[in-house]
Amino acid sequence: MNILSIIKKPFSWLSGDIAIDLGTANTLIWLRGKGVIINEPSIVARSVHDEKIFAVGKEAKEMVGKTHKDIETIRPLRDGVIADFNMTDGMLQGFIRKVELNRIARVRMVICVPSGVTDVERRAVKDSGERANAKEVYLIEEPVAAAIGIGLDISRPIGNIIVDIGGGTTEIAVISLNGVATKESIRIAGDEMDDAIVQWFRNEHKLEIGLPTSESIKKNCWLSNADETRNNFCKGKRPSKWNSQYYSSFFR
Ligand SMILES: Nc1ncnc2c1ncn2[C@@H]1O[C@H](COP(=O)(O)OP(=O)(O)OP(=O)(O)O)[C@@H](O)[C@H]1O
Ligand SMILES: [Mg+2]
Repeated sequence: MNILSIIKKPFSWLSGDIAIDLGTANTLIWLRGKGVIINEPSIVARSVHDEKIFAVGKEAKEMVGKTHKDIETIRPLRDGVIADFNMTDGMLQGFIRKVELNRIARVRMVICVPSGVTDVERRAVKDSGERANAKEVYLIEEPVAAAIGIGLDISRPIGNIIVDIGGGTTEIAVISLNGVATKESIRIAGDEMDDAIVQWFRNEHKLEIGLPTSESIKKNCWLSNADETRNNFCKGKRPSKWNSQYYSSFFR
């Protein structure tokens, strides 16, 4: 049975169909009949001594930059690959516990993984799903999930181009006849922008800011300049000038 037939087939709520987007920045869990029930950062807070996990998701994100020497916060997926498999497994189990999957009789699971993962990591993610009470686990590539998610009919013999800018990777794929005809994955996405903002404050203002602050600047900058951005792009102007003006005014 292929992934598309699983997604399209009408399920009953009792079958407990679940879809997980295991992203480098955010993890989403969707449950048939309920919709998206988890949308939280892919972050783990753990003991530095024995790797015991204290919190995952939004609780762990709240601890970023506020931990003492015995606790550290990490992102187990980075740059589109699984950087720390044990922690990825721990995080997945933590999220699944929040969903109380053990109360569902027969769980069928689709997990969307970054395309940079190796075969060994794919196998490990599948095992992780099975350990979490799933009877059937299928993996799906991010651009295919994105295409289905926005309602494209990817079964037709035409090229659908998907550009998915995530936290760790930007995936560009041409999808046709239910498959990926060609794809490219580059390790430049939201995280890289956050790092660039931190770097800019360090170089231009001799000011140290944390990643949560730079991420919030990035999001607010984009929103508050949305009209100007559109106009500049339409006129073919580079956005760097207004960006630096905005950042300068941010701490004035
Ligand atoms: N309004 C916004 N403006 C700019 N960037 C945003 C906005 N909202 C979210 N982002 C950025 O999008 C990125 C997260 O995107 P997404 O949740 O799709 O990533 P992901 O699926 O976890 O990552 P990946 O696909 O690389 O594994 C983060 O870098 C976040 O800062
Ligand atoms: Mg993604």
